Amino acid sequence: MIHTHTYDALVVGGGGAGLMSAIYLSRDPSIKTAVISKLYPTRSHTGAAQGGICAALANLEEDHPEWHAFDTVKGSDYLGDQDAIEVMCEEAVDVIIELEHMGLPFSRTPDGKIAQRPFGGHTHHFGQGPVRRSCYAADRTGHMILQTLYQNSIKNGVEFFDEYQVVDVLINQGRCVGVVAYEVSTGDLHVFNAKAVLFSTGGFGRVWSITSNAFANTGDGPAIAFRRGIPLEDMEFYQFHPTGIYKLGILITEGVRGEGGVLRNDLGERFMERYAPTMKDLASRDVVARAINQEIREGRGINGKKYVYLDATHLGKDVIENKLPDIADFCRTYLGVDPVKDPMPIQPTAHYAMGGIPTDMNGRVITDASNTVLEGLYAAGETACVSVHGANRLGTNSLLDLVVFGRRAGLDMARYCLEAEIGPLPENPTADIEATFAALLATTDGEPAARLREELQDVMQDEVGIFREGKGMERARVKIRELQERYAKVVVMDKGTRFNTDLMEAWELGNLLDLAQVTTESAINRTESRGGHMREDYLTRNDAEWLKHTLAYRDARGEIELRYKPVTITKFQPKERVY
Ligand code: FUM
Repeated sequence: MIHTHTYDALVVGGGGAGLMSAIYLSRDPSIKTAVISKLYPTRSHTGAAQGGICAALANLEEDHPEWHAFDTVKGSDYLGDQDAIEVMCEEAVDVIIELEHMGLPFSRTPDGKIAQRPFGGHTHHFGQGPVRRSCYAADRTGHMILQTLYQNSIKNGVEFFDEYQVVDVLINQGRCVGVVAYEVSTGDLHVFNAKAVLFSTGGFGRVWSITSNAFANTGDGPAIAFRRGIPLEDMEFYQFHPTGIYKLGILITEGVRGEGGVLRNDLGERFMERYAPTMKDLASRDVVARAINQEIREGRGINGKKYVYLDATHLGKDVIENKLPDIADFCRTYLGVDPVKDPMPIQPTAHYAMGGIPTDMNGRVITDASNTVLEGLYAAGETACVSVHGANRLGTNSLLDLVVFGRRAGLDMARYCLEAEIGPLPENPTADIEATFAALLATTDGEPAARLREELQDVMQDEVGIFREGKGMERARVKIRELQERYAKVVVMDKGTRFNTDLMEAWELGNLLDLAQVTTESAINRTESRGGHMREDYLTRNDAEWLKHTLAYRDARGEIELRYKPVTITKFQPKERVY
């Protein structure tokens, strides 16, 4: 059955960026706004962010938005667009106050100000030692942001379509006019006609086998957009967070190191002193994740295995119980390790996409190097690439990106909704997705999606992970092609309509395969090392040839075409990056 709805503004995804934009849209009651989310919004992955959201509040020592901007540019390995970074760092201070006024229960300093802790790559006065810039709510900052934004959305009367999976974007006569969604509980399709659509569907960490990302993080927004001719920017830059729980990938916040925790190898050495003499364990994430893998490769993993220790035992019970309660619980529950008494076994974990759907600073989707706007379509949060993270994101800049650019997108969508008329739907808007689902349901003797997904995750982990080189990525390219061919015969055992999660998982696998392919092709083509893209066959950064963003397109034959776009530099000239 097919249902049709009409709204002014649609927000796809109920995480931090989506809810922030929905709050801004719903401040004008004449703008009919709905959030469509594959999950109940409070289960969105924003809730998994732990250690904080940064802003140069200077609550504990001198700090300035300009210092924050410099650290972000340096952290991005000079690939971030500096105009957007300056805007984000300037607006950070105001947006934190706004969150507090919405009711967010931040932890406090003894004199009642918002508490701040150090985080990797955030420095005091252009590179000297760590600064306390991350505003936190114990180690549940993302959870608190998500709850606060959800409550405010409800207060403002935003309508929610929960457990509706958006499966297509509708583009007609050169503008976005809506989306198609699959209602998980019934199997019905819903056509949503709207003036403006925001994609804020989160990341795609499920491309890799060891990840901090939830099962739902399958890159639906970028994959849908890509299949409709929208480019994806800088997909070769994917962040591995240094500290995931060994084998499980579950995040152990950088806040542990912010509070004084240290990394140790099998010899008990605090090895980061060798790799980053000034910032040590609080160097930027790409540097720390590589150092951990280097220690493991050289045989100094614990007992020769693929992990090292994150040692917080010297911090004492009070700090751990009060400032890091959730990670203490995770370790006790999943590992039987009490971080008050024992070090935590960790390994790097696939965490965050620096790349995504290209946008301008107001969240408007752009389609080429001349910044041509696709009218009516917006993106924000991890789904988008503004680009404020460049080749490597600093910890706590993700929550900041969500709220700053979610707010900006919401404001611009509201402006647009008041000016624009609703556009006509294309003829037969559900035809393509109906054909996709029919093909998935038709197979009776193929392979299960889970098998293909596992093989994809393994090859991406081995060949397009922290260390990469041409031959390995070529192997990944061949394997992905093979998996795409086998995907044509994937079998969905459940042929029913109600809660057919089997069908949804098979459809999501198609997204993972497409995004893995774009990531790999973009990475093969970039013959340098920069930030999270570390090539062992091209060890150094090459600004002369590669100080530019990648734009990946799908051409008419389904092949990937790569084009490039200049980086915006305002006041920080590229230089060697040392921590
Ligand atoms: O380590 C963390 O708490 C993660 C934060 C982030 O990715 O920004």
